[in-house]
Amino acid sequence: MEWIIEPLDKTHDRAAFSCEELGLTRFLQGQALEDPQRLLGGVYAACESGSKHVCGYYAISSYLIARSIMPKEVKQHPSMPRYESSPVFLLGRLARSIEWKGKGLGEFLLVSALTRASLHAESLGCTAVVVDTISEPARNFYHRYGFMDIPDDKDRLYMTMLAIRASLRL
Ligand SMILES: CC(C)(COP(=O)(O)OP(=O)(O)OC[C@H]1O[C@@H](n2cnc3c(N)ncnc32)[C@H](O)[C@@H]1OP(=O)(O)O)[C@@H](O)C(=O)NCCC(=O)NCCS
Repeated sequence: MEWIIEPLDKTHDRAAFSCEELGLTRFLQGQALEDPQRLLGGVYAACESGSKHVCGYYAISSYLIARSIMPKEVKQHPSMPRYESSPVFLLGRLARSIEWKGKGLGEFLLVSALTRASLHAESLGCTAVVVDTISEPARNFYHRYGFMDIPDDKDRLYMTMLAIRASLRL
């Protein structure tokens, strides 16, 4: 399957998109175009080559994570700064439409988001990517790619930029 990723804009057909999480379906059909205009973050659509029909999307923005809530093994890593907080990217939303279930699109979207974060890590600052998990299946999906639990925050997972680059061989 050949998908391309592009910034979401009003030429995209969003009406038929539907995933397992109503909130993520509604976001795409509603405020997804507004967030980038309000400089709140980027929203990227996956489409089949030559089509404007949205098969999947993700939303990513800059974020700060407090050192105090980082997993112990991350905090103790020699590469981690001693600052009270560190810049990260927050992958707040990622979903593919239900007709694409199990065809590798979820992984394709995740790899695109992590590659984008890595590309901007030096210029904008990004020590890790944090993901929002809204369900147990979503947690399991991200765990599979190496995301770690954040103590005291069961709704978010964390992967250092070092680990991302190692896993993507960047
Ligand atoms: C999570 C989600 C993106 C996965 O997308 P998908 O396209 O069905 O998954 P893929 O086909 O890319 O699967 C890639 C791999 O992850 C595995 N996988 C998929 N969903 C999984 C889950 N919930 N738990 C564990 N592994 C999972 C697949 O088995 C596959 O592994 P394999 O290559 O060894 O067979 C999709 O279920 C979705 O959009 N859910 C609704 C929205 C959501 O929950 N988003 C995440 C939180 S914001």
